[in-house]
Amino acid sequence: VKGVVEGSIPDYQASALLMAICLKDMDEEETLNLTMAMVASGDQIDLSEIPGIKVDKHSTGGVGDKTTLILGPIVAACGVPVAKMSGRGLGHTGGTIDKLESIPGFNTELTRDEFIKAVKANGIAVVGQTGNLVPADKKLYALRDVTGTVRSIPLIAASIMSKKLAAGADAIVLDVKTGSGAFMKTVEEAKSLARAMVKIGNGAGRRTVAVVTDMDKPLGNAIGNALEVKEAIEVLSGKGPQDITEICTTLAGKMLDLAGKGDFKSCKAQAEEAIRNRSALEKLKLMIRSQKGLEDVVNDTNLLPKASYVKEYLAPEGGYIESMVSDRLGVASMLLGAGRATKESQIDPAAGITLLKKPGDRIEKGEAMMVLHANNPELFEAAVKEIDKAVRISSQKPADLPLILDIIE
Ligand code: URA
Repeated sequence: VKGVVEGSIPDYQASALLMAICLKDMDEEETLNLTMAMVASGDQIDLSEIPGIKVDKHSTGGVGDKTTLILGPIVAACGVPVAKMSGRGLGHTGGTIDKLESIPGFNTELTRDEFIKAVKANGIAVVGQTGNLVPADKKLYALRDVTGTVRSIPLIAASIMSKKLAAGADAIVLDVKTGSGAFMKTVEEAKSLARAMVKIGNGAGRRTVAVVTDMDKPLGNAIGNALEVKEAIEVLSGKGPQDITEICTTLAGKMLDLAGKGDFKSCKAQAEEAIRNRSALEKLKLMIRSQKGLEDVVNDTNLLPKASYVKEYLAPEGGYIESMVSDRLGVASMLLGAGRATKESQIDPAAGITLLKKPGDRIEKGEAMMVLHANNPELFEAAVKEIDKAVRISSQKPADLPLILDIIE
């Protein structure tokens, strides 16, 4: 790993090793050793100045996944410090940093000292990645991308866990998503990845738990940056959609459990109470104030950026909505301006999609199924074409699948 980062091992040799791993797999010990070597390739964040057990959370990406915006404030309101580094979105998946930056003025670029100070003062701060964390992953991921070796469970597990371990938390809760909108398309694949990551975390001396959750349909009703912030505020006000509320109180319950706040059942109840008594909403407001954002958005979501044009997407036929392929909706949202086609693309914070109906709902022909938001009306046509491919309507009501598919300790 050192040789790959320094450049003394040429790319063709590293690529051959990656292909060998992809074809032959790695055992638990090899995967842990690779991960620890990757962690050691760059900076490691020291959070020991912050008192208490610091618990981090990672979601394996998704469409409409605003869980960090919701569970960060919940966990902080329950007395567990949240020192979170998050990423930006790429392609059809969104990123927490882009979502937070849709709040006017919100600063995600704190120095290390400002970050630690904010967590000590307020119990929570969410920032973009600082420092040179895991340069080995940047190098190896780029090679994996061009050699068709991304889809290897030990390589994915080492890539994700090296970044989590370098970010310095004492314990880690993983939200491993499965389904059409996720990296892992089947439940079995998601469970294997979850097991591999839990073994790495525990092997590295950090208590780690994974929750396998369904991403076959988008989470909540909003896709797009400001639209998702608005929905997160609604969830923290106790008025959000049931699916995202349930996932967030489950993940928050697991984080509190790892931080020693009681057993899972009582921790989940504490998370629910933080929504009911509005202490989590107050934490969000405090975090926004501390990071120089417009805190009034919490009381009045009309202050968030709004698109100049909206268009309803109408049901092409009547029946039950059988499926909405989430990654296609993610692509449609990106085409409206909410996402980045390439790393360099600019995003439009106001753009995106609001779902008025979800899989399992009945709909009449011509009834509005979603609302598209854009600042350029010419973007609607391509997005609608993508949504046409995402939606399937049937005469039969589809089976209701559970949201939480497994918990791996
Ligand atoms: N996310 C990562 O960070 N790494 C992978 O290899 C796959 C998804």
